[in-house]
Amino acid sequence: MPVDAFVTLSRATAASLECWAVTAPGVERLAAAELERLGIAPGATEVGGVAFAASMAQLRQANLWLRTASRVVVRLASFHASTFHELERRARRVPWAEWLAPGTAAEFSVTSHKSKLYHQRAIAERLAGAAGGGAPPGDGVPVQLFLVRLVHDEVTLSIDSSGALLHQRGYRLEGGKAPLRETLAAALLLASGWDGTTPLVDPFCGSGTIPIEAALLARRIPPGLHRAFAFERWPGHDAAAWEVEREAARAAIRACAEVPIVGRDRDAGAVAAARANAARAGVEDDVDLAQASVSALAPPAGPGHVVTNPPYGVRIGDAARLRDLYARLGQVLRARCAGWTLTLLGTDRRLTGALGIPLTSRLLTSNGGVRVQLLSGRVGAAKASA
Ligand SMILES: C[S@@+](CC[C@H](N)C(=O)[O-])C[C@H]1O[C@@H](n2cnc3c(N)ncnc32)[C@H](O)[C@@H]1O
Repeated sequence: MPVDAFVTLSRATAASLECWAVTAPGVERLAAAELERLGIAPGATEVGGVAFAASMAQLRQANLWLRTASRVVVRLASFHASTFHELERRARRVPWAEWLAPGTAAEFSVTSHKSKLYHQRAIAERLAGAAGGGAPPGDGVPVQLFLVRLVHDEVTLSIDSSGALLHQRGYRLEGGKAPLRETLAAALLLASGWDGTTPLVDPFCGSGTIPIEAALLARRIPPGLHRAFAFERWPGHDAAAWEVEREAARAAIRACAEVPIVGRDRDAGAVAAARANAARAGVEDDVDLAQASVSALAPPAGPGHVVTNPPYGVRIGDAARLRDLYARLGQVLRARCAGWTLTLLGTDRRLTGALGIPLTSRLLTSNGGVRVQLLSGRVGAAKASA
């Protein structure tokens, strides 16, 4: 790029915004498919995200509807900067006032690779200066996040349109022992091929994330319906159009899930949390949540889908107990769910192997820093009853 080359985006004049849906690694293709279903053509996919071009209305839709993305950012500017002087001079050309509302504090998250400028705080301070500072941070002051990436002295400046990460749908205030991210629960469901027309069972439902995300999917409830987004504070935000769009989404919600969505857990506290979370999500009548151990699982008439996130141990001494639990789950499924599809998160082939159900790896991602595989397979019939 020539030294003076500068690409910047003005909301007033841009026909389309250069957007990037951030995802957990491995989940990019699912987010791309979600964009396509929204009528937005996905662009290049890289580890951790999908590019797409969008109008403001489409950007709002992406935030409202994407179930597997963790945030959506918009590229504001790309330019070369190998000195602070260059950084400041070019950053002053960004039309900050179009993006940063008065009374909002600007926060810069900086990463730098193989660049002369690498001191993250100093870079953030210079950019804050160029942006006019924004409001001083403080209690109750809204914060607008900007993401800054330097690679080989090329700066990419993006603005976060989401605010709180998108897995924060607003319903899960009560967690179980190891709650699954809502975005990963949605990824499991979408990867499983479940389409809301066959029964769904999670025998290890914990705080209910998988059944609740399933009910949201089945009823076409946008995951972001009950939360706010950063773009709502952008100057010139079209609040009237946004309300019309949300109202259209509300009006298209199905009255109820047409199939049983079942969550079981042996822990009474987890089931109570799952029920409270389901109520907050507005799907308490769509999910059947009860306390039961896996041995007592009584699935509805199928075939359907078992989608689950079974316990996986990290403590010494867990291994044998967990292998028994997985073996038991395999027996129960073969005896009572023959012909169903099983989709689960697995960390350890020795555990998933104990199921005795042939599984194919669909994708590799991470859950709370642990590498996990999303596996699925068809449950065969039992040779003897369980
Ligand atoms: C990894 S957590 C599931 C977390 C859940 N997906 C969520 O989002 O909260 C595993 C769950 O399996 C439950 N569990 C362990 N052994 C069980 C058994 N034998 N039968 C039923 N549930 C069991 C635990 O109580 C725990 O809630």
